[in-house]
Amino acid sequence: MDEGLTHIFNKRSGVKSLGTKVVGRKVYAYDVVTTTNDLAHFLAREGEQEGAVVVARGQTQGRGRHGKEWLSPEGGLYFSFILRPGLEPERVSRVTLSVGWAVAGGLQELGVGAVSVKWPNDVLLEGKKVCGILTEMSLTADKVGYLVVGVGLNVNTAQKDLPEGAASLAAVSGRTFDIDDLAHILLKRIDTGYGLLLEHKFCHILDDLRAMSQIFLGGRVRVTNGERVVSGYAMDFDEDGGLVVRRDNGTQVNVPSGSLEIL
Ligand code: BTN
Repeated sequence: MDEGLTHIFNKRSGVKSLGTKVVGRKVYAYDVVTTTNDLAHFLAREGEQEGAVVVARGQTQGRGRHGKEWLSPEGGLYFSFILRPGLEPERVSRVTLSVGWAVAGGLQELGVGAVSVKWPNDVLLEGKKVCGILTEMSLTADKVGYLVVGVGLNVNTAQKDLPEGAASLAAVSGRTFDIDDLAHILLKRIDTGYGLLLEHKFCHILDDLRAMSQIFLGGRVRVTNGERVVSGYAMDFDEDGGLVVRRDNGTQVNVPSGSLEIL
């Protein structure tokens, strides 16, 4: 273990279990860390079993997709977990989407406002981003060796402390939330979603996701995936969690992942 990590791991405030089947059967809880994703990668490389969760009250180097920073002040919920799903890399969007489904379902249960899933990794509240999901994979011979899935949720953060276009549960609802209770609610749902994936029942998740994604499904979008840019109408999800886009020339294309702009 390098020195930085020893320092952080020695500050461990507790390891517990949520009694879930896989995700949450072991939870490492911290105060402030660099990023829970790196700690989860470290644990995965050390052989930690799938489902282990690292949760923190704040992060000093929180990261989002495409190398962006993820602001992580205290008052938010930040956690990452390890999965070893034995999936091909092109199917990993299933995992990200099932986590979005779980978070959106949890927020709907709380009754905080209109909740949507914005493919492939955002959950929106009243049309603004409230949660981001960062799925990172470690490949072994073209197969997924393990995944680290990081979830950041703006919970009690004041609107003035949020980036442009972001929301928090408190800013939208005027209530404050117990972060441990929220973590428990979301991890139980994420565990349920992972169970459905493993039982080859992703289609049930997709049925819900169609209803949760009305904010862009059927409308015009632009999807950027590296050098590739696809514009057209977002028609549906495919069975691997990719987005089916109908281009203006009438052809349909399945985009496995990317950044979605709602036009
Ligand atoms: C995104 O929308 O770009 C994804 C944001 C993911 C943020 C979470 S917070 C917990 C975990 N640790 C990180 O550094 N990032 C993820």
